[in-house]
Amino acid sequence: MKILFIGDVVGSPGRDMVKEYLPKLKEKYRPHMTIINGENAASGKGITEKIYKQFLEWGAQVITMGNHTWDKKDIFEFINDAKYMVRPANFPEGTPGKGIVYYNLNGIEVAVINMQGRTFLPALDDPFRKADEMINKAKQRTNLIFLDFHAEATSEKQAMGWYVDGRVSAVVGTHTHTQTADERILPKGTAYITDAGMTGPYDAILGTDKDAVLKKFLTNLPVRFEVDKKGRTQLNGFLVTINEKDGSASKVERILINDDHPFFG
Ligand SMILES: [Fe+2]
Repeated sequence: MKILFIGDVVGSPGRDMVKEYLPKLKEKYRPHMTIINGENAASGKGITEKIYKQFLEWGAQVITMGNHTWDKKDIFEFINDAKYMVRPANFPEGTPGKGIVYYNLNGIEVAVINMQGRTFLPALDDPFRKADEMINKAKQRTNLIFLDFHAEATSEKQAMGWYVDGRVSAVVGTHTHTQTADERILPKGTAYITDAGMTGPYDAILGTDKDAVLKKFLTNLPVRFEVDKKGRTQLNGFLVTINEKDGSASKVERILINDDHPFFG
């Protein structure tokens, strides 16, 4: 089974890339399932119901989130009904939404878990102990488990990869918006990448208008950060092939589409 993951979709430039390239990626790679990180999809911070539904319409099966989950107040209106949206499982007890989603693919279930790191991010519940809990829960139903670990520190993401090696099919890092070239299959069969990268502005700084970010660095004055809409765009992702019987990964591939890495169908 092949699972396509599309890294942090930032604002309308990111959404336009998904709309344009998801059909082309599907044609080229024939994934059985597509997962999109959508926590930056609405003007860089959060997601709306309209965008969530658009992603499903355009061909995604599950939408993962992260530290910007609550940034658009619309989220509180629909998250409990959003069957295919998963937010970090280590948010405090009683938080709306869910930390695990099961997608049924012709009788085969895939569990998608979202987790947030806590190094240089808010002090949430321990993502490692929470991963144990979620994996044990998922294992009662399936061996096919996909973990989007939304975290800042490379070390914390690598630690999670090693911690769950052999227990999940893939650990895909998100949040830092720059694709890392360390995709691999860990010794016990878990696919791993520190960060899948982002989808959206390319002539920008992590998706944000570069002039604003530069002004911040040069003056330290208060600056309004907005998604860049002037420059070129990119799509970053990750493709993993999984053995359906035991859930182990057999192949990993980075997806990188931009003017310096053009897409060939
Ligand atoms: Fe994030």
